[in-house]
Amino acid sequence: MHLDRFARHRLTFGPTPIERLDRLSAALGGHVTIWAKREDCNSGLAFGGNKLRKLEYLVPEALAQGADTLVTIGGIQSNHTRQVAAVAAKLGLRCRLVQENWVDYHDAVYDRVGNILMSRIMGAEVELVDAGFGISFKESWEQALDDVRRRGGRPYAIPAGASDHRLGGLGFVGFAEEVRAQERELGVHFDHVIVCSVTGSTQAGMVVGFAADGRAQQVIGIDASATPDETHAQILRIAERTADLVGLGRPITADDVVLERGYAYPSYGVPSAGTNDAIRLAARTEGMITDPVYEGKSMQGMIDLIRSGRIPKGANVLYAHLGGVPAINAYSFQYRNG
Ligand SMILES: Cc1ncc(COP(=O)(O)O)c(C=O)c1O
Repeated sequence: MHLDRFARHRLTFGPTPIERLDRLSAALGGHVTIWAKREDCNSGLAFGGNKLRKLEYLVPEALAQGADTLVTIGGIQSNHTRQVAAVAAKLGLRCRLVQENWVDYHDAVYDRVGNILMSRIMGAEVELVDAGFGISFKESWEQALDDVRRRGGRPYAIPAGASDHRLGGLGFVGFAEEVRAQERELGVHFDHVIVCSVTGSTQAGMVVGFAADGRAQQVIGIDASATPDETHAQILRIAERTADLVGLGRPITADDVVLERGYAYPSYGVPSAGTNDAIRLAARTEGMITDPVYEGKSMQGMIDLIRSGRIPKGANVLYAHLGGVPAINAYSFQYRNG
């Protein structure tokens, strides 16, 4: 594989820490050992998160093209748009964000706090658009790009989640390479990696990266989109393209993309009672905060796979904590009593 063939602009601190979660493992019976790789602590850029690894491979192209404005799209409480706003600020570029109404949740401060608050402070031009959830290309995003061009700007287009982009899968190929090195340092072999999936390039990159040593199917995606067919197809498409780019040397197939579908209910961005129980358990055993949109659902999925025995006794499980905590501020009513 040839990841080093691609230019990378450092936005993260370096390899993210892996920590053992002993009290959470014990609370689930002590039959498996849970570890967390803390992508939520990966950067000083506005609380960091999983998009920065991806953007490290997009930024060199944006700079080479002479772009002066990063343009992207997401939900109102999108972590992705917040991270793009931070990157634009750090690079001295302008930022235009299209924020759609992806979530059927109506906390009074939903469009004022957390991610969108930070994006506004960082100087991004935020446009609220009344369109529903969707991970594909959107008209409102095309319009924003046209608008920047009409005003004489040079936009660089970043799709939702930096996913459906030629270079979008590369960052998490690097994650797998990093994990292999950390396994050697720690003397541990991870039997499963748990990852939350919505726009798909996080899991797609991992699938390609772990396919290099025959472990693609050990990556267990937990769907948080509630449109799992679309998410599965997008992960597969991005993984195929990324495998080609890095020269994996073997094709990726649909079986390589393992996506658990049972945890996204009732809908994208809305936590179930099971999600909230998982968030509280991780918080109360480990002081580790997960959010109701993404990581709370992958935490719920991992807990269920362990409790039900689908992850067998003796396994080492690596939970990829991808960030997303800022959005929890938008759910103040949900957690008013803890
Ligand atoms: C905190 C968090 N976790 C998980 C995901 C899912 O990653 P992806 O969109 O690459 O599937 C996202 C973004 O969508 C996110 O912000």
